[in-house]
Amino acid sequence: MQNFFYKNPTEILFGRGMIAEIASRVPTSAPVLFLYGGGSIKRNGVYEQVKTALKQHRLVEFAGIEANPLYETCLTVVEVVKRERIGFVLAVGGGSVLDAGKFIAATACFTGADPWDILRSGGSAIEAALPVGTVLTLPATGSEANGNSVISRRATQEKLHFTSNYSFPVFSVLDPETTFTLPTKQVRNGVVDAFAHVMEQYMTYPADAPLQDRLAESVLQTLVETGPVTLAEPRNYEARASFMWSATLALNTLVGCGVPQDWATHMIGHELTAFYGLDHAETLAIVMPGVWQHKLAQKRAKLEQYGRRVWGVASAEAAIAKTEEFFSSLGMPTRLSAHKISAEDAAAKVSARFAQRKVAFGEHGDIGPEAAATILRLRA
Ligand code: NZQ
Ligand code: ZN
Repeated sequence: MQNFFYKNPTEILFGRGMIAEIASRVPTSAPVLFLYGGGSIKRNGVYEQVKTALKQHRLVEFAGIEANPLYETCLTVVEVVKRERIGFVLAVGGGSVLDAGKFIAATACFTGADPWDILRSGGSAIEAALPVGTVLTLPATGSEANGNSVISRRATQEKLHFTSNYSFPVFSVLDPETTFTLPTKQVRNGVVDAFAHVMEQYMTYPADAPLQDRLAESVLQTLVETGPVTLAEPRNYEARASFMWSATLALNTLVGCGVPQDWATHMIGHELTAFYGLDHAETLAIVMPGVWQHKLAQKRAKLEQYGRRVWGVASAEAAIAKTEEFFSSLGMPTRLSAHKISAEDAAAKVSARFAQRKVAFGEHGDIGPEAAATILRLRA
């Protein structure tokens, strides 16, 4: 096991009715930015619950954070934050709203000339941020308990992420009942995204970290068990609760402690969203089997362990097949052709981006422009 620091400062408030608990945790000393998306929270009662909980607070509302939140929109909100002297950001919604909240909170305190540097630097340019609290309504990203954020820039068709210790939420409410209204597609996306998060921290090579392996496999097994149930029974509280907690543990930095990590699937996937507008999880279901296929020799030991422990199959090849079958069973396509995207076009665009940025990913740092192109061609 490699050396590591482990600190997760986010308090989780989990369960029915927990939105009421935020009243004592949100400071009253300054106005609060109440940030949300396209209106789902107005249709499922979450908006009213937040307003009731914070009736003693001065709230400044901003609606309209998009899925794959836009840099341009966030900068508009930063103006509001500065003008209204906001002291706390409350982000209410899915990963996109939470990520936007983190970026706004960091940009409001940023002293550099160009806020895009926050993303260009991967987060190291952040030296302060307003405190952020969240009410999560879509289990998927883990944004509720990590310091990550992913922001898209419309003008340049770019999608970049940052991570910072200043960007962990101070608290996150996870009430499974707030997810009952999710469209099937978003539940499917959430299961696949959480599954992929575990895999990015697990599907590498044996690293003498048996506990991290078992933790990762537990989250995977729970997703395999509860994913189909929660899709079929949207109001099954227990299934939603297991799914929601699994998605948080998948990316709250615990399973990745002291182990090699991959993240090539996510980085290629972000480019597919930037160029073609696919949902985040849709990109992962396409790319991940390709990364494994391309890196079969290096990943064989872990693929076999995963196959044996999670699916009861003996070979790495069978483990990949089982994963694709699982995604398909959730109604998630695993090929570019399902989205009418040419693999050649995607390979050319993504490899050009990687080359321009001089980046390479994967646990060996060897998934650069050429490997990305090869992987995408495998997923025609
Ligand atoms: O905008 P509203 O009206 O709220 O509707 C949203 C949105 O249209 C809707 N929704 C959310 N909760 C709902 C609901 N509809 C009905 N009932 C509810 N309870 O769902 C739609 C999608 O929401 P979004 O927040 O975009 O989805 P998700 O949570 O999957 O977030 C995706 C974004 O997170 C980034 C992705 O790249 C993408 O930009 N990621 C963030 C990560 C992180 N911060 O750690 C890691 C991930 O790998 C990922 O990259
Ligand atoms: Zn993801």
